[in-house]
Amino acid sequence: MKSFALTALALVAPVQAGLRFGCSSLTIQRLDPVVEPGHAPSAHLHHIIGGNAFNATMTGDVGSRGTCTTCEMAEDFSNYWTAVLYFKHPTNGSYHRVPVTNNAALARGTTGGMTIYYTQFDFNKDNVKTRPIKAFPPGFRMTVGSPTTSTLSQAKGHIGLRYNCLQTLINRGAEMADFPDKPCPAGIFTVHHFPACWDGKNLDSPDHQSHMYNTITRDGFTDAPACPASHPVRMPQLTYETVWDTTKFNSLWPAGTPNPFVWSFEGSSGYGTHADYMFGWKDDSLQRAMDKDNCFYDGCGSIKKQAMTVANKCTVPDMVRENIDGWVDHLPGQGPMQMKKD
Ligand SMILES: *[C@@H]1O[C@H](CO)[C@@H](O)[C@H](O)[C@H]1NC(C)=O
Ligand SMILES: *[C@@H]1O[C@H](CO)[C@@H](O)[C@H](O)[C@H]1NC(C)=O
Repeated sequence: MKSFALTALALVAPVQAGLRFGCSSLTIQRLDPVVEPGHAPSAHLHHIIGGNAFNATMTGDVGSRGTCTTCEMAEDFSNYWTAVLYFKHPTNGSYHRVPVTNNAALARGTTGGMTIYYTQFDFNKDNVKTRPIKAFPPGFRMTVGSPTTSTLSQAKGHIGLRYNCLQTLINRGAEMADFPDKPCPAGIFTVHHFPACWDGKNLDSPDHQSHMYNTITRDGFTDAPACPASHPVRMPQLTYETVWDTTKFNSLWPAGTPNPFVWSFEGSSGYGTHADYMFGWKDDSLQRAMDKDNCFYDGCGSIKKQAMTVANKCTVPDMVRENIDGWVDHLPGQGPMQMKKD
């Protein structure tokens, strides 16, 4: 659904069903503690936000280990990440990383980062009395989408993974299953909705997905049908939104030529878009928010918030030491490693 969030913003009063907040960028590195734990570097580059317990390997209760977070919600030490977008120069084949800019209408001072949603039922109803929402347990992790998705019909099956060609930061245009086919005046918007039904037993699964089940049929911000018996536990509906500032590359994209943007795993299309989640809310802070009626946007009455000037001080070390900026002749992980010089 196009620009639903903005319509909602304009009509704040009747819309009360979840958390929505910004997190600044934490780090951009080749690490993936869900899919490739212990690997530094992992296969491809990620844009990561959230808490400073982020590391090549993450086990146990992340929320008890974090001491700072780039998220506005000060008790959220979770990590959220996606692949990184690169521009591939149409004539000389060099790559340049596309910067991330902050979404419209986030807290002042958010830098880069993502918008994170934990909706309870859909955007308008919480229904916590008739259908309680169980917060993710410590150690929980999951992914959505896959770099190996290669056809339009497969991509259409991932209903929550979409692109918008931004006309302005607040006019998103239509949702698409693939990259835009012409330059976007204000950047490329990506959305990742995760499944919300849990098997009630496993913190993870071999493919990092089968412990969860998706019942969304139309849009992640609309009512999700009931969970099936195999995955009976309703969790928060988790969503990421990222704004890729492609504007400085628009003049390098000759009219009528194919899309020059590629994910950091070098997919030839946008179908391989995917995202990873590592739960890390402190104690029962997320559960308290999800138990709250009329819970909307910023805090659900119980969550501590912090100024983004404080959030932006949170960092993690560069554990890979790879050069990922400027023009590079291959994507990180797709050729000899290009180390940082200093
Ligand atoms: C990451 O893990 C390594 C190895 O266990 C440890 O030495 C390091 O302190 C950890 N870094 C952070 C930021 O937690
Ligand atoms: C490709 O073009 C860009 C932009 O003009 C330039 O900065 C870069 O050095 C070029 N790469 C090669 C390999 O010539």
